[in-house]
Amino acid sequence: MVELPTPENLERAAQIIRSGGLVAFPTETVYGLGANALNAMAAAKIFEAKRRPAFDPLIVHVADRGMLSRVVSEVPPVAEALMERFWPGPLTLVLPKSAEVPGIVTSGLPTVAVRMPRHPVALELIRRAGVPLAAPSANPFGYLSPTRAEHVARMLGDTVDLILEGGATEFGVESTIVLLGEPPVLLRHGAIPPEALEVQLGPLQRGVEERQKPLVPGQLPQHYAPRTPIVLAYPQEVPPERRKKAGFLAFKDVPKGFKVVKVLSPTGDLLEAAAHLFEALHQLDRLGLEQIYAEPVPEEGLGWAIMDRLRRAAHPPGAAPPARGEPPGSQ
Ligand code: TXA
Ligand code: MG
Repeated sequence: MVELPTPENLERAAQIIRSGGLVAFPTETVYGLGANALNAMAAAKIFEAKRRPAFDPLIVHVADRGMLSRVVSEVPPVAEALMERFWPGPLTLVLPKSAEVPGIVTSGLPTVAVRMPRHPVALELIRRAGVPLAAPSANPFGYLSPTRAEHVARMLGDTVDLILEGGATEFGVESTIVLLGEPPVLLRHGAIPPEALEVQLGPLQRGVEERQKPLVPGQLPQHYAPRTPIVLAYPQEVPPERRKKAGFLAFKDVPKGFKVVKVLSPTGDLLEAAAHLFEALHQLDRLGLEQIYAEPVPEEGLGWAIMDRLRRAAHPPGAAPPARGEPPGSQ
């Protein structure tokens, strides 16, 4: 099921994509669940496999500018400049869609979210398939994103035709999503820090914090959630008797008294912390703990994306935690 990206396996994967199947593949952010973005039936399989609601549009992945021009109808100059600077890489741009992109991919929106990944396996798969790939993160809807092939195998193994091995992903958080309107809006924090975009775009409207209505499911208050209840807290806020049955997701220092502690970055490096975030949550979630406490990190650079994911993973106060044994994402 999980296969190394040898030329033979890449060819097999490309063949699966061309015939309308599903292939999970590594990108520099998280693993994606890919299908031919120009084939409505193939894209429908993604929604089925992820148990993803149809109002949640997919990101389309391209390998070159030729493919980009098949999926978008127009590239405004500001998008051109961003692509020049950040592509291939973890920046997703929301642009006017072409007629060739089926409505299921964009959930009926007149725009399409598109990015050019920079992982060699992702690029090679798209090139060999010869079509753009619609690919959300390869996890059941609402659950933790996969940063390793084994996460995909565990969560979606039965529903994917092939999983390409690419080791642990580089960034560990999803791409940053920008809607290029007047003014541009940051729709999702991700692997490109907002500060880097603002150099080019000027002050960004932070859609994530400032908009009331969820525009993208990545903005739903609860998303990226483990099954174990998770709470944001500094270690000193957790009473000693609570620590014994709880896990602690630490930023850099190891606190005392917890049943298990995972450290995101011993040196306090936010890039390293982001890369370890989902892996650490996957590990903690498998231990049957009563509670996971997660330590806040500074909101700068990759810290914005980390805090965004942690806040959404934390169950909102007062909400009942999902029952154990229930399929992930069904809450
Ligand atoms: O890093 C990533 O972006 C990963 C890898 C696999 O490339 N993909 C990913 O896809 O995170 P997904 O489906 O988990 O997140 C896609 C987000 C969704 O929240 C979706 O609503 C938003 O992109 N989106 C897609 N099309 C959009 C559109 N036309 N307008 C606004 N948001 C859109
Ligand atoms: Mg996702």
